[in-house]
Amino acid sequence: MTKSKKRSIKVMTVFGTRPEAIKMAPVVIELAKFPDDIVPVVAVTAQHREMLDQVLHLFDIRPDYDLDIMAAGQTLFDITIKAMRGLDGVLTAEHPDLVLVHGDTTTTFAGALAAYYHQTAVGHVEAGLRTHNKYSPFPEEMNRHLTGAIADLHFAPTDTSEKNLLAENVPTDHIYVTGNTVIDALHHTVNEEFSFDPALSKINFHHHRIVLVTTHRRENLGEPMRHVYKALKRLIDELSDIEVVFPVHKNPKVREVVEQELGGVERVHLIDPLDYEPFANLMHRSTLILTDSGGVQEEAPALGKPVLVLRDTTERPEAVAAGTVKLIGTDMDRVYGEAYRLLTDSKEYSRMAESCNPYGDGHAARRIVQAIRYHYGLTEEKPDRFTMTK
Ligand code: UD1
Ligand code: UDP
Repeated sequence: MTKSKKRSIKVMTVFGTRPEAIKMAPVVIELAKFPDDIVPVVAVTAQHREMLDQVLHLFDIRPDYDLDIMAAGQTLFDITIKAMRGLDGVLTAEHPDLVLVHGDTTTTFAGALAAYYHQTAVGHVEAGLRTHNKYSPFPEEMNRHLTGAIADLHFAPTDTSEKNLLAENVPTDHIYVTGNTVIDALHHTVNEEFSFDPALSKINFHHHRIVLVTTHRRENLGEPMRHVYKALKRLIDELSDIEVVFPVHKNPKVREVVEQELGGVERVHLIDPLDYEPFANLMHRSTLILTDSGGVQEEAPALGKPVLVLRDTTERPEAVAAGTVKLIGTDMDRVYGEAYRLLTDSKEYSRMAESCNPYGDGHAARRIVQAIRYHYGLTEEKPDRFTMTK
């Protein structure tokens, strides 16, 4: 891709799942601020349906194209094939100058590959995250590698992700260190006065400490998740002053095991996925978070909440280094032991509960859009670089 002076450029954002939508929303909003420079187009694959729509509604995003591909029990092949076919049509109709994809889902990779087949430039938001283990997380590690190989512009959230890209010989002037847009989204949503709707009214925020749980990773489906849920049951039996709040992912393979192990257990609230706003505010009111989510690992440190990560690897080492996040895997005794310790040892808890902001400062979307305008000769000014603050 060469720098060329143009009057305006067409930028198409492509996303499909809940986390991509949350993290792309600030970019969609920012792109709309430059109508003289940028013609924005939004295309969603709807790899997720309800969980995507929740976010579109919150940020008032009305997609120009909705491929509506989700099917119950969809395989990686189903998602890839349907997304590629649908995006072929959209790209043929729109001829964008740049396609923006986010992160590491199958929509991300299909979006990048479809753009490449149309010889259209690709910008990768949240570029350069790596575990260097191709099956962990699966298939996200390979999705982000392959997307990175195709991308022309790389929006790396942190110094670490930039280093990963440089080690793969990505030219330095194709990388912008922007911070993660998830922190922009978080700044829009968390506030002290937020009041929860009736779905959460049974939670006793005044007398109990809240342990918030989410699980969905493909490599944790089945027995690993079962072990985690058994550990939670033991924790609830041991500690009478905690409540577990568990917004259960829509994946039926997750829901089945959750229901078997935790259905009907006292002080365990199995609820549907929450809208982003109540979820973010629930994180803010929680004492401890157990998750295998990527996004939650980035948000919780900003809120000063300790996170036990139910995985063996992470592509987000920054908060682990800062001490707010601990990788513990899914072994039942380990999950129980680590959670029990944090809930009973106040010194250890305080050590982990320090807030830190390694992932962003709320200005990532501004930097990304400025970098795009700079790259296409629509502004002379390069964006500033995100630097981590304590
Ligand atoms: C996907 C992404 C993963 C991301 C996660 C975020 C891939 C391969 N995986 O995983 O990287 O971390 O989203 O949550 O891209 N379902 C619904 N309604 C919804 C969403 C999902 O019913 O709104 C059900 C469907 O039955 C669907 C199943 O969940 O078939 C699995 O969805 P899928 O997108 O294939 O995988 P996730 O585990 O959600
Ligand atoms: N989230 C949400 N509602 C919920 C659970 C999570 O809005 O009930 C948000 C969370 O704050 C984070 C994102 O969803 O921003 C993470 O999505 P997920 O864990 O599904 O995917 P990952 O980040 O692991 O790809």
